[in-house]
Amino acid sequence: MGTDERKYKGYIGVFDSGVGGISVLKELIRELPSEDFYYFGDSANAPYGEKTVEKVQELSMAIVDRMADEGCKAIVVACNTATSAAVGLIREKYGKAMPVIGIEPALKPAAREEHHGRILVMATPVTLKLEKYHELSGRLAGEAEFIPVSCAGLADRVEKGRLDAADVTEMLECMIGSYRGKIDGIVLGCTHYPFLKKQIRTVMGDVPLYDGGSGTARELRRQLSRCGLLKNGEKPGRVVLDSSLKTEEEMKIYHQLLHADIG
Ligand code: DGL
Repeated sequence: MGTDERKYKGYIGVFDSGVGGISVLKELIRELPSEDFYYFGDSANAPYGEKTVEKVQELSMAIVDRMADEGCKAIVVACNTATSAAVGLIREKYGKAMPVIGIEPALKPAAREEHHGRILVMATPVTLKLEKYHELSGRLAGEAEFIPVSCAGLADRVEKGRLDAADVTEMLECMIGSYRGKIDGIVLGCTHYPFLKKQIRTVMGDVPLYDGGSGTARELRRQLSRCGLLKNGEKPGRVVLDSSLKTEEEMKIYHQLLHADIG
């Protein structure tokens, strides 16, 4: 019997179309500090939110196939777009072998906190067009009013690491500025957007912002625990950042975002 030398044996595989899922990874590390995480951002193919559903499914499945081959013990789809388009297929293929956790726009916590309020939902065109979003917003329709805003192009700004560029604030002003003072909360329904919290507050004032990162982290803990897969130990786990665009410049953005204070 040979030893299992697969590269990421026992790691939790986390992926996104690019750097956005790092906002989720931060929550996962906070919730489960002794786990080992392998993060993959598909920056060479970002953005996913403006591709066809079939393309997002194909790209997502290729990433998960490799993570499974390399020994990951669980998968976190840290991308709302990929979850909407592909989590069903991923669960069909791997759901019996390991926990598969997807992120969803944080409508539930927003509706709980801002009961009967007006809530803006910022997300990619693909997320807002797919059944998953309509099912979720329909189910919660009696709890709050949801106003979807398709934010094509916004994730790409984060992808390029240009968080403080003036055109980001201009873009936000165009997309959501007309709702200033007229809403009770904003759901950041794309994992790239938590990196823009400061800029969103500059445009919208001090309005509550909701994202799915911490809920996803708690769900990962529950599922690992249910399957007896939680890692015990005091030592901090390993965190590997990887990308399909592995230039020095790109990896610098990945590391900067992992250590950024996003409030
Ligand atoms: N971060 C992804 C999400 O959560 C999408 C960004 C993209 O369009 O690639 O939806």
